[in-house]
Parts: sequence; structure tokens; C-alpha cells
Amino acid sequence: MDSAASACVVTLSARCTRIKPRGVLLAFHETREHAITARRARGYLRRLLTSQLPKIGGEGLANSRWLLTVFCADFPQAWRAAMPRVVPFYAVKCNPEPGILKLLVAMGAGFDCASKGELDMMLRMGVSPSRIIFAHPCKRPSDIRYARDHGIQYTTFDTVSELHKIAQINPDFKCVLRIRADDPDARVPLGLKYGAEVCEAPMLLRTAKELGLQVVGVSFHVGSACQNLSTFSGAIENARKVFDEAHQCGFNMELLDIGGGFTGHFDEMGNVMFGEIANTINTALAAYFPPEMNVRVIAEPGRYFAETSSTLLTPVYGQRDRVTAEGVIKKDYWLTDGLYGSFNCILYDGQTPAYKVVRSPLMPEPTDNSTFTSTLWGPTCDSADCVYKDVTLPSLRNGDWLMWNNAGAYTVAGACDFNGIEFTTPGKLYVWSDSAVDVVEEVEEQAMHA
Ligand SMILES: Cc1ncc(COP(=O)(O)O)c(C=O)c1O
Repeated sequence: MDSAASACVVTLSARCTRIKPRGVLLAFHETREHAITARRARGYLRRLLTSQLPKIGGEGLANSRWLLTVFCADFPQAWRAAMPRVVPFYAVKCNPEPGILKLLVAMGAGFDCASKGELDMMLRMGVSPSRIIFAHPCKRPSDIRYARDHGIQYTTFDTVSELHKIAQINPDFKCVLRIRADDPDARVPLGLKYGAEVCEAPMLLRTAKELGLQVVGVSFHVGSACQNLSTFSGAIENARKVFDEAHQCGFNMELLDIGGGFTGHFDEMGNVMFGEIANTINTALAAYFPPEMNVRVIAEPGRYFAETSSTLLTPVYGQRDRVTAEGVIKKDYWLTDGLYGSFNCILYDGQTPAYKVVRSPLMPEPTDNSTFTSTLWGPTCDSADCVYKDVTLPSLRNGDWLMWNNAGAYTVAGACDFNGIEFTTPGKLYVWSDSAVDVVEEVEEQAMHA
């Protein structure tokens, strides 16, 4: 990535200086452009390539990749309307983009942090420790020490070994027992690694008691991108069983954490779709955790808030034709992003990202639309760095782009800079909605005068 491009901030109005975008602020829109179209992206690129960043020049931009992120209050609002009892604690790991965090801080969300680094990031943003859960069932000792010294109260556990570690380093933690609750069809199942079997709960509760610890709640995670609604109801029912067992052990239970697993997309009217998930959860909560139990309910959504917020734009910067023994032309293209960058989501998150062709805004539209079997390579020297093999594409020129919608969850957050290529710092393009800026400004002003 051209460093001038990644550092560039274009200020379009006085409001931008208030929200301090660390990237190129393209526009303000009141509503989210929920399907960033190829036409709109081409317009953005034309503005970047021709007028907004003249000092970088075409070559700098062709070396780059751009992540366009839209900040809008729609997802937090839709959550609140659909599940008023459940406070979202955003899973920072999913996408620690400062704009997403800032907006969620302003909108009153809490945060699921899983390491000292994530805790530190949120505390530095002024988030009170009471709005954070250290939701890692197997924490490194130094991270526990950091949490203790910075007033973090809640953490999860699912083993005897973790209970001993907590007893030794921070016996004041409010401990939340994570139980296993697998959706067998989740895109990323988590149960193999985390979550105690429900039948292990009595033994873990007894151990916590013997060690003098306080168990205050139950958590679960059905797996990322959950498909089956019944997994949530079953998990909430099991959580209630563990609550009852904990009460019998003498614990004062006050927190239910229903984890993540939610996807968020739009219907054809541009409204956030929850499907039936919210109704299923509300019904199960009413049955197993009626309001008179006075249990605080939180969730740890990551993908729901982040996935549709970002669109990735990658130019083609190299290519070759290979002719098969049958005389068929197959095309190879090199993109500026690959499996070591945002497309690590193909390996680690089971994603199959969809793309659209965005023709170079600096070249005339091609007239020949014949298609070829094509392979998309990432930019590193590793031959395993292949984004897609044998897909059908029209003939692309160096300088044409591919646009990848829904690129905000578990993408750049998991990238590394292998081969000295700056995958972790794509150029950033922002679109803020006016109402989102209003919320952020109001909260920042209150903080200034407090
Ligand atoms: C403990 C925990 N909480 C929350 C999340 C976020 O899950 P999702 O993005 O599916 O909502 C994860 C994802 O791996 C997780 O491990």
C-alpha cells in the first residue's frame, strides 16, 4: 500500500474534523448504501484517481486496495428494536475499525474483549470497565493480571484449570461459566475448542465454590454465522438448568450471555434483517429467564455489526494467458489482496466472498464481453496464495477492479504483513451517515464537558 494513500485524509466538511476519520471521507449519506453498486464504486474510484489524491497518482492507487466502510446507526437501532432485553457487547476481534468502535461506544454498546490488547484499546477509548466482558475462557496469565489491574470485572471460564488460574491471580473476578451449545450447521463451529458440557457444570461449580470464587452467570456461543434457530432456544434452556444448579451451590446468578453467531443483512427495502432469530430468542428468554428473575442479558455479536459495513476494492495489477493442450485460453490475474490479507477469511472464516467487476474509471468501457476461465492470485510469492481458481470472468485489464461487498467481518482483522506487503493497512474510505455523526459528536461533547 502506498503509505501516502493510507495516511491521506480528505476533509469534505467541517464535520469531518470532529469525527477525525483516519482515511478518506468520501461522503455523508443519511441512509446506508446497503448494496454498494459497481457503478457507485466506479464513481468513488474516479474521484480518487482523478481529483482527490493527485499527489499519489494512478500508479500508487493501482498498487493499493481500498476498504470502504459505511458508518450508520441502522444496525444498533435494529438490534435494540428486535431484542430490547439483550444488550450487545460487540466482539472487538471481528473488526477493530476505530469508526465502528466509536459509533458503538456512542450508541451505548458494551464490548467483548479477548486479550490485553483489546481491553487496552477499549479502555483507551474511555469505555468504562463495567461495559466490558473479558470473554475468553482460557486467558493468558499476564492478560488476567492486566484485567485485574484495570478494573475489569467479568470473565468467562470452562475448565478447572482456568478456575485455578483465576483463583491465583484475580479471585475477585465475576466468573461466567461458558457452556457448549453447538449449531452443527454454523459456518465456524466453536464447540470443539470452547464450552463445558452441560453435564460438567456441577463439577465446575463445586470447584469454583471450593476455591472461594464467585460464579455469577452463564454464557454460550452457538458458532459463528449460526443457521438453526433451535440452537438458541436449546442453549437458553440449558443455561437455565445451569443457573438452577448454581443457585443450589449458593451462587448469586445475575448474568446470561447469549454469545455471537448473528448475521446481519438487508431486505430489498434496505432494512436490517434478523429473520426469526430475534423472536426465537425473545420467546426462549420469556420462558426460561422471565423478567422477574432480574437477570441481565447480554450478547457478543461481531459479524452482525461489521460484515455489511465494508466493501473491499482490489485492482488487477498483473496477468497472463495460458493455453491448455486443447487450445483453450485460461487467464491468470494478480490482485493486490490475497489469503495473507483480507481473504484470510476464506481459510479461517469459511467465507466465499462474492465479487463484481468494476471497470477502470480511467479507461473506456471494453466492448468485448467474452468470458474466460480465470484464476485470481494474491500478491505474495506463495503459490498457495490463490483467492479463486477457475472462475468465469470477462477479460480484465490491468487497472480494472474487483469489488467485494460484505467484507467487514474477520477480514482485515486477521490479516498479516507476510512478504513485506502491508495487508493490515488498506487505504480507508469512509461514508458516515449524518445521524451517526450526530450521535458520536453528542457523546464526545458530553465527555469534554464532564
Ligand atoms: C467468545 C466469542 N464471542 C463472540 C464472537 C463473535 O461471534 P460472531 O461474529 O459470530 O457474532 C466470537 C467469535 O469467534 C467469540 O469467539
